[in-house]
Amino acid sequence: MEREELEDVEIQLLLEGIYRYYGFDFRNYALASLKRRIWNTVKTEGLTTVSGLQEKVLHEPECLERLLLNLSINVTAMFRDPSFFLTFRKKVIPILRTYPFIRIWHAGCSTGEEVYSMAILLKEEGLYHRSRLYATDINETVLRKAKSGIFPLAMMQEYTQNYIQAGGKKSFSEYYTAAYGNAIFSSELKENIIFSLHNLAIDNSFNEFHVIFCRNVLIYFNKFLQHRVHKLFYESLIRFGILGLGRQESIRFTPHEQDYEQLVSSEKIYRRVS
Ligand SMILES: C[S@@+](CC[C@H](N)C(=O)[O-])C[C@H]1O[C@@H](n2cnc3c(N)ncnc32)[C@H](O)[C@@H]1O
Repeated sequence: MEREELEDVEIQLLLEGIYRYYGFDFRNYALASLKRRIWNTVKTEGLTTVSGLQEKVLHEPECLERLLLNLSINVTAMFRDPSFFLTFRKKVIPILRTYPFIRIWHAGCSTGEEVYSMAILLKEEGLYHRSRLYATDINETVLRKAKSGIFPLAMMQEYTQNYIQAGGKKSFSEYYTAAYGNAIFSSELKENIIFSLHNLAIDNSFNEFHVIFCRNVLIYFNKFLQHRVHKLFYESLIRFGILGLGRQESIRFTPHEQDYEQLVSSEKIYRRVS
């Protein structure tokens, strides 16, 4: 058997073991990036093979925690891709104004920068008081950070630029207090946010939404899992609900392609039409 084939078998066994013993399902994640991350963990754990990692992960839950942190890519930013938020403000907010109550789901919210950005935007548009934002992720550690609403002060310069480019209407520093190298965001922004664990690979829908954001998450899944998640989103959106994806993601070539129209050609903002 070729070395690479053996490596694939070991990876499948590792993922199967994690799924069967702990219930975390990485079996349908895109293989290339998964392999890189698994090998990083093999090395940082002082091991030489993926099978060695399998043994350690199954016998030491702390090792699983470390692997999970390595497997989930949590890179995020406030007002990430500012033009996305600017377009949302211009094109989607007028639609949302027509609803008496607005439910938004941030699936794969990571440490929360995206959901706080949306809370700020909704506040400035006078819609926050009638909105509920559901921020979910598979990773408990990032959710804990998200709940705290505390981000490194060093990032604020970049986030201020993003905020301005995203059509921000105030001085960005009004939203946080600086203390000990951190920016502590106003607790008012959290009032209508519900943070919760949710695994897109195995969990079902839990509400009906006017907007779903799932940005920079689906790129880490294979086709099978992407289709599962698109089905979940389709079933969770109201008719004419909005789906916002990441810059490198698309609804094209999925079973639900025909059910959406692209609201603006330059941004990955779609509207469910059937
Ligand atoms: C790169 S971050 C994206 C954060 C944010 N949406 C953004 O665009 O800035 C990807 C997030 O997806 C989460 N994730 C990965 N697999 C997931 C799954 N099966 N269910 C829910 N979240 C998942 C990761 O934990 C990580 O926080």
